Amino acid sequence: MLPKRVWLGIEWLLHLLLQVETSVPDRRALITGATGLLGRAVYKEFLENDWDTVGCGYKRARPKFEKVNLMDPGAVRQIIQDFKPHAVIHCAAERRPDVAENQPEYTSQLNVTTSGCIAKESAEIGAFLIYVSTNYVFDGSHPPYRENDTPNPLNLYGKTKLEGERVVLQNHPGAAVLRVPLLYGNVEKLEESSATSLFGKVQCHSTVACIDHWQQQYPTHVADVARVCRQLSERRIQDPAIHGVFHWSGNERMTKYEMACTMADVFNLPSNHLRPVTGRPAVGAARPQDVQLNCSRLERMGIGQRTPFRVGVQRCLWPYLLDKQWRQTVFH
Ligand SMILES: NC(=O)c1ccc[n+]([C@@H]2O[C@H](COP(=O)([O-])OP(=O)(O)OC[C@H]3O[C@@H](n4cnc5c(N)ncnc54)[C@H](OP(=O)(O)O)[C@@H]3O)[C@@H](O)[C@H]2O)c1
Repeated sequence: MLPKRVWLGIEWLLHLLLQVETSVPDRRALITGATGLLGRAVYKEFLENDWDTVGCGYKRARPKFEKVNLMDPGAVRQIIQDFKPHAVIHCAAERRPDVAENQPEYTSQLNVTTSGCIAKESAEIGAFLIYVSTNYVFDGSHPPYRENDTPNPLNLYGKTKLEGERVVLQNHPGAAVLRVPLLYGNVEKLEESSATSLFGKVQCHSTVACIDHWQQQYPTHVADVARVCRQLSERRIQDPAIHGVFHWSGNERMTKYEMACTMADVFNLPSNHLRPVTGRPAVGAARPQDVQLNCSRLERMGIGQRTPFRVGVQRCLWPYLLDKQWRQTVFH
């Protein structure tokens, strides 16, 4: 006969084993573009919320992520068949409008052909797919845009993303398309987002900086979009009818000039060297003036969060503030 203390110990061990067994996540998510600005946030969001998560990247993949060239259909098939995800969040894309204009074939292959292939493979194993798209599918002449408004992209980037939407929904009618506007968040370098890239000019007080004050933008924090992707995937597990086009966006309208002034204000830096440029930009790919997205479909579902721009930039730009000591003496 074992002493009571030993029995209690065995009972406690069994209890622990049971807990481990039940806490193993039985939901698997595959994140493409997990090395990119949005993908990093999406990977983190799923991982921290009990999803068994695999991220893939390409040039920056090692050592944290799987290295997969998504332009190789065999490699796409292999990762999806091997991991058998319940949800695929497809963030990889060529998203720089000027690069798209100069490299149309490469952009079309990545944004359209690859997306179609990911959709086909996801449909085959019954995985939910979120294809991240852009507000640049609209021309900006009649904002705000609802999910079923007629797209009319002005530049090649927008055209390939729209074509990507169509091929995704053709190959996987149960997929979701999530359109988002200008993104910012934790960056590996300031140039990674066209919002955070303004901070270099903001900090260079000795040089006059002319900044666009024509295009209306709705800067959106990547953590907010990541939250939407996770919530939508979880809702989909409960309700298989969820599919189609969705919009998510921050709700603070500002031009790049206004974003730069806000950054200066947040860090108590001078802004009198920043100058607004009110005309349509003459160089680069054509951009729509105001592509505000109506997000009521997700809002009605109770999905989404919005980080105030001041809070978001303070967090993500702090590491790049040159004169931290000066700011500390100002604030304390
Ligand atoms: N950024 C914005 O302001 C914005 C606005 C609206 C919509 N969006 C959409 O949001 C999504 C995410 O954008 P993002 O800003 O996060 O993009 P990003 O930072 O430029 O990241 C692009 C990702 O695609 C991956 N990739 C590129 N070529 C690949 C290939 N051949 N095989 C595998 N992976 C490849 C890159 O991997 P490596 O770097 O490891 O090679 C990287 O992870 C895109 O669909 C974009 O259209 C972005």
